[in-house]
Amino acid sequence: MLDRTIQFLPHELGPPWQQVRVEVDGELVSWMQTFTVGHRLRGVTLDCAGVVGVHTDDAHQMQGHMRFMLETVLERAEARGVPISTLYGVPGLYHRWAYATVMPEFNFTVSTRGAEALTRRHRIRRAEPEDRPAIARLYNRETGGISGMRVREPERWLGPRQGLYFGRLDAWMQVALDDRGQIVGYCVGDQVDHDAQQLDIVDAQATSSGVAASLIRAMADEAIRHRVGTLVFHVYPASRVGRYLRNLEVTARSERPIGRSQMVRLSLPGAVLQALGPYAQERAGVLGSERPSDLVIDTELGSGRLPLGGDLPRHRVRLPSARLAEILFGYRSAEELKEIHSVELSVRDCEILDALFPPIDAYCYWPDRY
Ligand SMILES: CC(C)(COP(=O)(O)OP(=O)(O)OC[C@H]1O[C@@H](n2cnc3c(N)ncnc32)[C@H](O)[C@@H]1OP(=O)(O)O)[C@@H](O)C(=O)NCCC(=O)NCCS
Repeated sequence: MLDRTIQFLPHELGPPWQQVRVEVDGELVSWMQTFTVGHRLRGVTLDCAGVVGVHTDDAHQMQGHMRFMLETVLERAEARGVPISTLYGVPGLYHRWAYATVMPEFNFTVSTRGAEALTRRHRIRRAEPEDRPAIARLYNRETGGISGMRVREPERWLGPRQGLYFGRLDAWMQVALDDRGQIVGYCVGDQVDHDAQQLDIVDAQATSSGVAASLIRAMADEAIRHRVGTLVFHVYPASRVGRYLRNLEVTARSERPIGRSQMVRLSLPGAVLQALGPYAQERAGVLGSERPSDLVIDTELGSGRLPLGGDLPRHRVRLPSARLAEILFGYRSAEELKEIHSVELSVRDCEILDALFPPIDAYCYWPDRY
């Protein structure tokens, strides 16, 4: 019989981070980090258990240690009422625990020469640690209405911990200032490798299109400094910087991964549906006279109810939790779930689910994926 123990230890980053260690007979076999963070979904903010840096020592793999560790972390989070969990997943692993990919990836590629044509009207300087609260507030204002975004707590946000490469390269940050010295925009980029072919910008927010232009121009200057001919902005298309980029000669790409990348698990589907109740009730108006009194959704991780206020009898739908995550985060319509995942849904099920939760593009900026 294995003597397997799990410990939750303080993290160098402080609360809400924790270091998790699994030992067998006193030997470290698996480790990961976890934290709690607010996560936006259709106008509500849900507590989310972040899962990062999951690892089992080579000599101890395929013995169930990671399963034990992850399930213990999830159970503890659920016991505290944390209704969702997110992670950035390697392919083909996390569907076992009902994690689903629910966000497209976006990037805009522009030549340094093209971006250099813009005018820089704002002073741009390197961000200092003291700037973090102002940057977090600006980010919250700009992204508060977008599903998939984290909440950056102004007094606690530690700045960007990474760009695209999970610790391989540090991220750096620059801020744009107005005439009064107030922060009106910022850019987060990947540290540039000596053989880099491009400069990757992993988060950029601007409070006006003029600020967006200044930031893009500043990034062109940064690229010139590093002798790099291409800029790649990994930004949300509807953000100010995304909207500005679409006016330039850019290549815009979007990708819709499955079973990898940024993934979400509805750990407590009932709590998630309860939080979305007012949203669903408002949307239910489009069902007109076909509106049921309420909708009950049963998943393998629990059930939830949405009061819809109609005169027709209660409607009941059965869905795997991962598929419900795709619907709630707007990644797939109910119709698409039938086509892509062969989920069994009736015409009426699809009609109701698609009326309540229309497809949207959720997004999480790279520095928040940890
Ligand atoms: C991925 C990793 C953490 C798995 O650890 P582990 O302790 O060997 O995993 P477990 O033995 O608990 O296996 C749990 C389940 O995952 C499956 N699994 C394990 N490694 C897998 C992998 N690399 N890809 C896909 N499935 C995997 C197992 O078959 C098992 O499935 P089952 O319970 O349905 O039979 C380990 O291989 C590792 O550290 N890899 C390198 C780092 C990494 O990729 N981490 C993930 C970052 S998102």
